[in-house]
Amino acid sequence: MSRKLIIAANWKMNKGPSETGDFLKTFLAKIAPLTSNCEVVVAPPFVSLPIASELLANSNVELAAQNVSQFDSGAYTGEVNVVMLKELYVRHVILGHSERRSIYGETDAVINGKIKKAREANLRPIFCIGETLEEREAGKLEEVLRRQVRGGLDGVSEKDLLDCVLAYEPVWAIGTGVTASPEQAQEAHAFVRSLLAELYGKTVSEKIRIQYGGSVKAGNAAELMGQPDIDGALVGGASLEPQSFLDLIQNGVAG
Ligand code: 13P
Repeated sequence: MSRKLIIAANWKMNKGPSETGDFLKTFLAKIAPLTSNCEVVVAPPFVSLPIASELLANSNVELAAQNVSQFDSGAYTGEVNVVMLKELYVRHVILGHSERRSIYGETDAVINGKIKKAREANLRPIFCIGETLEEREAGKLEEVLRRQVRGGLDGVSEKDLLDCVLAYEPVWAIGTGVTASPEQAQEAHAFVRSLLAELYGKTVSEKIRIQYGGSVKAGNAAELMGQPDIDGALVGGASLEPQSFLDLIQNGVAG
C-alpha cells in the first residue's frame, strides 16, 4: 500500500500576519518541486490565516488551522467555528494536540466532538495522539493510545475516517530535542494502525496516513519517514524557518 507523505508545519503560537507573509513568500519560491511526492501543509495561528490563505491560493501548499470549536456559533467567547475556517479556504485542522489536552483540558470526548464538527464541514482533521513519558515508563503506551484512538473516533464513520490523518506525537519528544528512535516510532505507528484495523478493518487501516511528530528535523526526517508505517511528519520548531522546513521535506521525501 503506497500512501502519499503528508508533512505539516504546526507553528503553534508563533508568527503573526507579517511574519507569516515573509515566511510564505520565501517558502513558496522553492517548494514546488518537492510537492509531487508529498502533501505539504502549513498551520499558522488564526490571525495569520487570512494572509496565508491569500498567499497559498493557486499554490501546492495547503492551509490548516490549529484548532476549531466543537460548536456552531453564538456565545463562545474566544472561539472560532468551522464555517469561519471554510471561508478562508482552510483544508485541514489539527485536533487533539497534547498541548490542547494538557494545557486546555481537552478530553477525548471534546476532541471527538471537534472531529465530528470538522467533518460536517468537510475539514480534514489531523488527529493527534501520544503518551507522556510517565505513561510510557509505566508500560501504559498501548492502553493510552487505545483510549485516545477509540475515544477520539467514537461514532466517526469509515468515510469520514478516510479524510482524517492521524499524528502520533509522544509528549516526551515534543519540543525537547529528544526524538523517538525510528524503531520506537515504527512500533507505535504499527500499533495505531492495528487499532484502526480493529475498528474499521485492515483495508481501511492501510489507507490512513499516520504522521510522526516530536523533534523532527532535517537530520532525522529521512530515517523516520523511511519506516513502513510512518507517512509524514507534524513539525513544530523545525518548521519555523523556511530553509529548515524545506530541508526537512526534501530529506523526508528521500527517506
Ligand atoms: P517540535 O517539532 O517542536 O518537537 O513540536 C512537535 C509538535 O508538537 C508538532 O505538533
